[in-house]
Amino acid sequence: MSSTKYNYNKLADTHVLILGGTSGLGFAVAKACLAHSARITISSSSSLRIGSTIKKLVSEFPDCKERINYYPCDLSRETSEQEIESLFSQVGIVDHIVYTAADALPLMPLGDITREKIIAGVQMRLIAPILVAKIGSRYLTPGPESSLTLTSGGISERPTENWTIVAGVMGGVNSAVRNLALEMKPVRVNAVSPGLVDTEMWDATFEKEEKDTAFRALGEKHLTGRIASADEVAEAYLYLMKDSNVTGRVISSDSGSGIV
Ligand SMILES: NC(=O)c1ccc[n+]([C@@H]2O[C@H](COP(=O)([O-])OP(=O)(O)OC[C@H]3O[C@@H](n4cnc5c(N)ncnc54)[C@H](OP(=O)(O)O)[C@@H]3O)[C@@H](O)[C@H]2O)c1
Repeated sequence: MSSTKYNYNKLADTHVLILGGTSGLGFAVAKACLAHSARITISSSSSLRIGSTIKKLVSEFPDCKERINYYPCDLSRETSEQEIESLFSQVGIVDHIVYTAADALPLMPLGDITREKIIAGVQMRLIAPILVAKIGSRYLTPGPESSLTLTSGGISERPTENWTIVAGVMGGVNSAVRNLALEMKPVRVNAVSPGLVDTEMWDATFEKEEKDTAFRALGEKHLTGRIASADEVAEAYLYLMKDSNVTGRVISSDSGSGIV
């Protein structure tokens, strides 16, 4: 028998804004939030992609149509601060912000790195999230029940050839969440650090067959014996939203890859 006093579903009726909600981790978080009776607003740069995402969500959750909202916002531009202001002024008050938006990975040998490529690589994964924190802090319901969750990555702890820019950016995210947790208190700020996850992000890096082969080989090296799905890693974002006692932390969901 279930208790009438124990609030098991802490996300019910909360409003979650998901930047990057049209694909990969963000889309998985969007589905999980709907399954937990939250209201969601999804955002990405492409109105077309938002439209097809809404269709997918409505077909999977037909009763949730009224709980899904959306606004496009391009986070890649120099004008991203104004775009984020405009996004929040339309979205209004939120209980949780999840940031998974990202462009193609800037992977390259050290010799190919330029100042311009570093700056371009930092924009979506560190500059925009900090601006979202700055502006979003005025729209988050005050209190430790509210949260901002950013996205880091296992590369922040494990070096890999050609990943210098991403490693620097993700290390920056890990440090920034601690500082943001201090500056945004009592609202909580954390990050999820995924290992390899099978999402659309890899479509820009691999041809389909190449990806299947590489993922099979890499998955065998993981303690779980496979590559994670976005739905699995979405649970880490849900945890960080629900535990009103965790802040300034980076939580790994990495198939055990960080310890072997
Ligand atoms: N997948 C992995 O294996 C993995 C592992 C570790 C860390 N991560 C990190 O996790 C984050 C999310 O990865 P993912 O795999 O979920 O990526 P993804 O499937 O490619 O999703 C990226 C999201 O960002 C949005 N986006 C792209 N350009 C944008 C722009 N200019 N403005 C606003 N939104 C934009 C995309 O939507 P639109 O195209 O519609 O704009 C999409 O919703 C990234 O930072 C990634 O580095 C991923």
